[in-house]
Amino acid sequence: MAKDPIPTMVSKSYIIKITTVAALGGLLFGYDTAVIAGAIGFLQQKFDLSPALVGWAASSAIWGCVFGAMVAGYASDKWGRKKVLIITAVLFFLSALGSAIANDLTPFILARFVGGVGVGAASMLSPLYISEVAPAKMRGTLVSVYQLAIVLGINIIYVVNFWISKAGTSEWNIEYGWRYMLGSETIPAIIFFVLLFTVPESPRWLLKKGKDKIARTILVRVNGSQADEIEKEIKSTLKEEKGSLKELFGKRYRMALVIGVVLALFSQITGINAVIYFAPEIFKSIGFGVESALSQTILIGVINTIFTFVALGLIDKAGRRKLLLWGVSGMIICLLGTALCFHFRIYEGPWLLLFILGFIASFATSLGPIPWVIISEIFPTKTRGIAMSFCILILWIGVILITQLTPVLLEEIGGSGTFFIFMVNAIFLLIFTWKFVPETKQKSLEEIEKSWKNENAVEIESKI
Ligand code: GLC
Repeated sequence: MAKDPIPTMVSKSYIIKITTVAALGGLLFGYDTAVIAGAIGFLQQKFDLSPALVGWAASSAIWGCVFGAMVAGYASDKWGRKKVLIITAVLFFLSALGSAIANDLTPFILARFVGGVGVGAASMLSPLYISEVAPAKMRGTLVSVYQLAIVLGINIIYVVNFWISKAGTSEWNIEYGWRYMLGSETIPAIIFFVLLFTVPESPRWLLKKGKDKIARTILVRVNGSQADEIEKEIKSTLKEEKGSLKELFGKRYRMALVIGVVLALFSQITGINAVIYFAPEIFKSIGFGVESALSQTILIGVINTIFTFVALGLIDKAGRRKLLLWGVSGMIICLLGTALCFHFRIYEGPWLLLFILGFIASFATSLGPIPWVIISEIFPTKTRGIAMSFCILILWIGVILITQLTPVLLEEIGGSGTFFIFMVNAIFLLIFTWKFVPETKQKSLEEIEKSWKNENAVEIESKI
C-alpha cells in the first residue's frame, strides 16, 4: 500500500513551539499560586480579615488545585489534552478577573478556587501533553521546560508584585494594589488561550481515538523518518491495554503508581515550598532586615532558575536516576547544614544562606523537574490521564500539608526541628530512588510501557 512520502527532517522549531506553548501552563501555575504572597497583606486590611480568614483567602486556590488535578485526567482522556488545556486557560482568565474585581471575601475565595482548578488541571496536563508529543531523545529536557516555566512564573509575579506595591501609597495598595496584582494574571492567561489554538492535539491521544490520519501528520513532523515505527509501537501497546482503573491498580502497573506517588509527595514534603513561600518570614525571624530578607528571597529565585537550566542540559544525558540520586544527596547535606545553623544559632556569616541556596540548587537540578518528567512517562497511554491525575493530586495534598504545617512546625519545634524532618524525608526518598526508580532516558513511552511486563521496576535497567 502506498503511503504518503515521509520527510526525514524533524521539525525542531515545531517541537519547540509546542513545548513553549504547553509550558505556559507551568508559567501560569507559578504565577497564579505565588501572586497571593504579595496581595494577602493588603487584602487582609481591605476586608479586615481574622487570621483564620487570611488562611482561607490564601489557600482557596490550592484546594481548587486538588480538585483540578483530580478531574483533568479523566476529562483529557475523554475530550483530548488540548481541549482541556484550553478550558484551563479560560479558568485562569475568569479567576484573574473575578478575584481582581471582588468586593467581598466570598467571591474572592470562589474566584481563587476556580483559578486553582485551572492550575491543578494544567499542572498535570502540560507535562503529560509535552511528554506525549516529544521525541524520546529530548523528552526529559522538553518536560523540564515546564518546570522552568513554573519557576519563571513565580519569579515574574514576585517582581510584578514588588513594582505594584512600590507604585502607590499604602492606602492605594489596600484599595487597588492587590487588584492589579491579581488582575495581571489575565495577561498570561490570554496569551496561553490564544497560542493553544496554534498547537496540535497529542498524537498518542489521537491514535487512541482512532484518528490515525491527523496523528500521523504530527508524528512525522516530530519524529521524521521514525514516525512509522513509532506509530506501529503506539498502536500495538494500545491494543494490549484496556485502559481501565483496575488495570492501573493491578499488579503490572502497581510499582509505576507507587513510584509516581512517592516522587509527587516527596517533591513537596522535603521542604521546597517551605523555603520558597516562607523564606522572607524565616529570614526576618532570625533578625534580618526587611530589605535583606527581600534580596535573599530574590537570590533564591535566581538560583532556582539557573539550576533548572542545568537540569535541562543534563536530564537526557546523565539520565533521571543519576540526577535524582546526586540532587537528593545534595539536598540532604544542605538540609542538615540548615538544621544545624538553626540549632546552634549560626546566623552571622554566610553559612545559613549558603545551605539554603545549596538546597535550592540541588532541588532545581533534580527533584524540581524530575517528578514531572517521570510521572509523565511511566504510565501506559490508555491510563496516563487518570494515573497522572492521581499522582499530581497527591502532590497538591503535599503542598497543602506543607503550607499548613510549616508555620506550626517553625513555631513549635523551630527551624532546626523543621529542617531535620525535611532531611529525614529526603533520606527516605534517596533510598527509595536507589532501590526502585528506573532509568527512562532515551526510551520511547511504548518501550517504557512494555518494560513493566517484568512487574518489577528494578529490572528496567536500573543500573547507574
Ligand atoms: C516544583 C514543585 C513546586 C515548587 C516548584 C519550585 O515544581 O512541584 O511545588 O513550587 O518546584 O521550583
